[in-house]
Amino acid sequence: MRVLGIESSCDETAAAVVEDGRVLSDVVASQVEIHGPYGGVVPELASRNHMGKIVPVVGAALDAAGISVADLDGIAATAGPGLVGALLVGLQTAKALAFARRLPFVGVNHLRGHLLAARIEGDGERPDFPYMALLASGGHTGVYLVEDERRISCLGGTRDDAAGEAYDKVGKLLGLGYPGGPVIDRLAEDEGDEVDLPQALRQRRSYEFSFSGLKTAVAQHVAARGGRLDEGETRALARGFQRAVVEILVRKLVLAARERQVPRIVLAGGVAANRGLRRHAADAAADKGLTLFVPPASRCTDNGAMIAYAGYLSLAAFETSPMDLAPRADWPL
Ligand code: KG4
Ligand code: ZN
Repeated sequence: MRVLGIESSCDETAAAVVEDGRVLSDVVASQVEIHGPYGGVVPELASRNHMGKIVPVVGAALDAAGISVADLDGIAATAGPGLVGALLVGLQTAKALAFARRLPFVGVNHLRGHLLAARIEGDGERPDFPYMALLASGGHTGVYLVEDERRISCLGGTRDDAAGEAYDKVGKLLGLGYPGGPVIDRLAEDEGDEVDLPQALRQRRSYEFSFSGLKTAVAQHVAARGGRLDEGETRALARGFQRAVVEILVRKLVLAARERQVPRIVLAGGVAANRGLRRHAADAAADKGLTLFVPPASRCTDNGAMIAYAGYLSLAAFETSPMDLAPRADWPL
């Protein structure tokens, strides 16, 4: 079964073709340069840009897979959560194609896409069910119990900022550009001095997070130095920030896995591309006798393959969506 998946929930226009769970093509057009000067995603600009890119990106995904629309068995698109105007572009494109070609159509939950990305075939070792997953992206941060393709429950989330949002805000504070995550990851790479920063809710036996205090602590540290840090100070702050985020994320994920006696842990979402997080999770897993699964970085940040894969699972189970399906800004699992 061949499924086209379209993703346009935020600042990536993406499309991919999956055949029986394997990726034939995966094309992503990033809008980072458009939003960069504003230090964050501007929703109106995102929608406009998706409109210009969606047809070429879908065409490129079909070309790269070596197929045409006539070879598809179904079409999937992200229906939420995300920016409504941005979602609308991918969703309507998917519906129009499905309607014109009389193909089944299904709307996919973006979080479900991220959480099942580790199960895509052909990328490496896949986790069996059940697994405990950390989803950390620009819009969401939480610990999820994934019992199977359908039964996914959130055990705890962030009370305020998402982890990726904290990376981006700190990146902006340090004048590192948008998105801050990959830059801070690079700055934190070498060993050296580290600024000691607080980890909220560390001793709580809950799977909740809070990152707004950490962001404030970084802002105060910068302000105390007159708003200007030299390169050494910037690196020390980046290291301290990365440690604080990564340690608390892994701590809660491991706590959940142990308490629920789930032997497998999985990283998902844009922040899972972080090298420090991957290393720390690998160490913690080895230490606690858990098996860690991490998708390739390109399947952690927003992509079409995870939507095509989740859509394929739904369509293979004869699950479709009505043609009047509306995008949803909020859509908890
Ligand atoms: O999953 P994603 O592409 O989009 C959302 O669904 O939000 O995640 C984007 C987030 C951004 O906040 C970005 O800064 C962060 O993921 N990110 C990273 C890294 N790469 C992307 N954060 C930390 N380290 C990275 N290497
Ligand atoms: Zn995402």
